[in-house]
Amino acid sequence: MVTIHLIPGDITEQSVDAVVNAANSSLLGGGGVDGAIHRRGGPEILAECRDLRASRYGKGLPTGQAVATTAGRLPARWVIHTVGPVWSASEDRSGQLASCYRESLRVARELGARTVAFPAISTGVYGWPLDDGARIALAAVRRETERDDTFEEIRFVLFGQRAYEAFTAWL
Ligand code: APR
Repeated sequence: MVTIHLIPGDITEQSVDAVVNAANSSLLGGGGVDGAIHRRGGPEILAECRDLRASRYGKGLPTGQAVATTAGRLPARWVIHTVGPVWSASEDRSGQLASCYRESLRVARELGARTVAFPAISTGVYGWPLDDGARIALAAVRRETERDDTFEEIRFVLFGQRAYEAFTAWL
């Protein structure tokens, strides 16, 4: 049975098998989690992202999909990059957000990762309300892990008290 932990703090400090990055489709870095992971993880991560853009993902990583690279200097073995949907008040994109968690876990399973750390995908630059982002994240991870014991521990690493409280409310 997997344990789900909520951890306040910085995802780049998590010693887990796989760290999930809230990337953009370019896979070439950005701010927020993406910026922190590339800054702390070092150039090897970007080098592998460039290779992915030159091969499988010529047009970029589509929203809701996930792909793994090395974790470089992070205390982890892999970074799993996923692209969250930008929040829209007129269009329900919650299926795409759930897909980020589902696809990241699928990639983690393929890698043989037993411990995974997620950020609150799309709830920063992409503007998704924290409360709804937390609800979707926990529901998706629970759905994906309730029937199998592939994973030992799944962490949600939350930046700031508001994010931590939003997730606590749904745990
Ligand atoms: N550790 C954990 N959580 C973090 C960290 C960190 N070091 N830095 C930011 N966060 C939190 C934010 O507070 C937010 O709650 O992660 C959540 C996701 O925020 P973003 O990183 O802005 O990601 P997202 O909203 O998915 O937007 C993705 O932002 O950084 C760019 O290149 C990225 O274009 C992409 C977009």
